[in-house]
Amino acid sequence: MTTIVFFEPDGTRREVTANPGETAMEVAVRHGVEGVDADCGGVCACATCHGYIDGAFFDRLTEMNETEDAMLELVEDQRADNSRLLCQVKIGPELDGIVIKLPGVRR
Ligand code: FES
Repeated sequence: MTTIVFFEPDGTRREVTANPGETAMEVAVRHGVEGVDADCGGVCACATCHGYIDGAFFDRLTEMNETEDAMLELVEDQRADNSRLLCQVKIGPELDGIVIKLPGVRR
């Protein structure tokens, strides 16, 4: 079982578990994590699943594609070097313990 630690916009720490093959967005929605609206349902078309990936894990993610990069421009004012759209982050055992802060949390 893979664990993800989310920090909700108000700073609340939520430690939840992911099922194999889930995206970080799906895990957040399933557990009712605040700050992940996922309006488009995970097809990389809304940027309401934006999160900041802890540095230790960022390099382990699959590379960002052009669509995700373009969608992140929608949240340009919040975008940081460690920004990703959580519907594009597939969770596997190599990401156990990953920390994801949601917009609004001081990073
Ligand atoms: S859920 Fe819409 S871009 Fe991720």
